Amino acid sequence: MYKSSPDHVAIIMDGNGRWGKKRRLSRSEGHYAGSKQMEKIIDASIELGIKVLTLYAFSSENWSRPSDEVNYLMGLPIRFFNKKLPEFMRRNIQIRISGNTVPLPDKTREVLAKAVSSTENNTGIIVNFAFNYGGRGDIVHAAKTLIEEVRNGKISKDDITEERMQQYLYTGDLPSPNMIIRTGGEKRISNFLLWQSAESELYFSDVFFPDFTGEMLAEAIGQQPVNTYLSG
Ligand code: IPE
Ligand code: IPE
Ligand code: MG
Repeated sequence: MYKSSPDHVAIIMDGNGRWGKKRRLSRSEGHYAGSKQMEKIIDASIELGIKVLTLYAFSSENWSRPSDEVNYLMGLPIRFFNKKLPEFMRRNIQIRISGNTVPLPDKTREVLAKAVSSTENNTGIIVNFAFNYGGRGDIVHAAKTLIEEVRNGKISKDDITEERMQQYLYTGDLPSPNMIIRTGGEKRISNFLLWQSAESELYFSDVFFPDFTGEMLAEAIGQQPVNTYLSG
């Protein structure tokens, strides 16, 4: 239980495929339903006073899925930000991306970069999408950057502290998550925020992500739901 809302909540949005299957729909239709639900979870997070919301949208392991599903997942951010970016600007929402965007299709990478650059001066909630993210890759990437800095004389080996290491992770200056929520019934971390989760509370819900409501988020963080999203 928190007296007030936690600063940083991270969600492993799992169960989209099974949600689709349960309704005799395709996995991709499940992903689309998940992206619609994401909008509601962002709204609820704002109303709950959460400062940073990290959403695990595509893991570095998800490339091994069938290519049509991967293609669909690469297209979703394009649809999502084309529709939502003006509203995010209006609502002062800052978008960040954590993950390796280099291997993404050009169009996807461009849309993500535009969402980040156009919202970088916004001062409201930070919505951080973990996209092509893996916790091990995150640590390796940070280690490589640190080595570069030592090599070019910017810092010395003794300057490498936990705090500095943390700053070089994809999550940068964001605080560590107070709570990690996984929907969809599986109780594992799936290579999410391995370093950053050292002290996070873990919360598991059996509900598939497209059915995970703002009310359920409020319950997870021990807060009273706010009226406006009670309908889910
Ligand atoms: C999570 O839902 C979303 C992504 C990985 C993109 P899944 O696609 O893993 O759905 P399930 O776990 O197969 O039901
Ligand atoms: C974790 O879910 C990744 C995302 C939600 C993006 P997965 O469905 O990919 O994880 P595993 O395969 O069950 O571990
Ligand atoms: Mg899954």
